[in-house]
Amino acid sequence: MNNISQLISLLGGTGLVAEKLKIKPSAVSNWRKLNRIPKNKLNAILSLSLQHNINTEDFLPSHNFDNLNFKVLLIICGGIASYKSLELIRLVKKANIDLDVVMTKSAQRFITPLLVTSLNEKKCYTDLFSVEDESKMNHIMLARKPDLILVAPATANIMAKLANGIADDLASTILLASFSQIILAPSMNPVMWSNLATQENYQKLLGRGIGFIAPDVGDMACGESGTGRFPEPKVIYDRIISNLINIKNIADQFKNVSIVITAGPTIENIDPVRFVSNRSSGKQGFAIASELSRRGAKVTLISGPVNIPFPKCANIIQVITAQEMFEKTISQLPADILICCAAVSDWKFIPKISDNEKIDSKNKIKKTNDELLFKTLKNPDILATIAKSKLRPNLVIGFSAETNNIIKNAKSKLISKEVDLIIANDVSKNKVFGEDSNKVFLIDKNNCEEWCEQSKNSVAFNLADKINNIFTTANICDTNA
Ligand SMILES: Cc1cc2nc3c(=O)[nH]c(=O)nc-3n(C[C@H](O)[C@H](O)[C@H](O)COP(=O)(O)O)c2cc1C
Repeated sequence: MNNISQLISLLGGTGLVAEKLKIKPSAVSNWRKLNRIPKNKLNAILSLSLQHNINTEDFLPSHNFDNLNFKVLLIICGGIASYKSLELIRLVKKANIDLDVVMTKSAQRFITPLLVTSLNEKKCYTDLFSVEDESKMNHIMLARKPDLILVAPATANIMAKLANGIADDLASTILLASFSQIILAPSMNPVMWSNLATQENYQKLLGRGIGFIAPDVGDMACGESGTGRFPEPKVIYDRIISNLINIKNIADQFKNVSIVITAGPTIENIDPVRFVSNRSSGKQGFAIASELSRRGAKVTLISGPVNIPFPKCANIIQVITAQEMFEKTISQLPADILICCAAVSDWKFIPKISDNEKIDSKNKIKKTNDELLFKTLKNPDILATIAKSKLRPNLVIGFSAETNNIIKNAKSKLISKEVDLIIANDVSKNKVFGEDSNKVFLIDKNNCEEWCEQSKNSVAFNLADKINNIFTTANICDTNA
């Protein structure tokens, strides 16, 4: 076996490894001297090695992920390469990863559940409507348990079902009911792969964040050649190990960090049937809550009335009015980070007939008067109040929806409200509200970053990276290294 010093050299040397791992170069020099990598940095080194295509077996003891508690679900579909998934099972088992296997009906025409069960030393799941399985490990548990779901081989059929939300067997139902990362390793006849329908499904799934291990080019079992070959099981294995390590690393990124996020619109009632609100859908705030939760943060999401599903996060509080949102947000402090993404109504609207004559707004207002006037009362400014208070979180981020002078207006908000970072977007011509993409500017005291238009999930991902950088820059001297 080669030594750690050689591995560090292959990874670019002491300085580069230290920079990538955000630790002191002296720590890496010590590893070289002692020929040992501390346990808590092993994952990061494995991940870096996989990125550099370096086979760590030459340098480190063989992978044993027993203590990392990785959970993988393998879905085997009915393709000519189904038998190759048996080698995958062997590799995953050897690494002590907790593996469950689901086979489609078609897969069982190629290999048997008995063979899979013997290799995996565990029941292989095949039936959505099994009374016995449903009582022990039901399909929702199978969907929720894994860190990663690998579909290998993935048929054109399962891609089409997933792209179109079809859930007519155990495999396709699990794929729809899961929060886990999904990776597909498609394998099929080259004409099937290049078929417009398959390619459209592929693009659709990529756009929804599904991962792919692209099929190889070469001779196929059917006698034709082209793109569609199942990649070598070791290639698939390395890719899922790399993803699992990233998932675990990312899952600890915001460990012990409490984050309060406001999202969606608020509603100001005029009477029991009428109200004033705005066009915010909550999509951007929900995406941020979901991403930061995935990275281990304890997220409290305070949401106005929305029509989208709630993300998976520690705590969800539903509110209607700006006043309620203000009170509930304050009630969640102290917290480490506040992200005010909600489109909060600036005013309450109090109906009246004339300057002196108020209206009974407890009941539905009648059309007896030609004119209805409104007195407006300013709602509390959640962002500014908290940013200037004694309970101010370490990092306060606000969103600013503008229709003109975007950067100038956002910068003046940054200063007047005393926040650390403003994310500004152009909402003229309904460009953002309710849409799945967003184009934002990140403005702090010194800089203005323009981000290209991207999905709201992607904005959430990049923002989480940005927040992580702000935090780790403050803790750059990692004394554990
Ligand atoms: C001998 C044979 C080989 C097949 N190989 C593949 C294949 O490699 N890839 C594929 O997408 N479909 C292949 N099919 C077609 C699938 O088995 C079929 O579309 C099936 O409905 C897939 O079901 P599933 O996605 O539920 O596993 C093959 C069919 C046969 C009879």
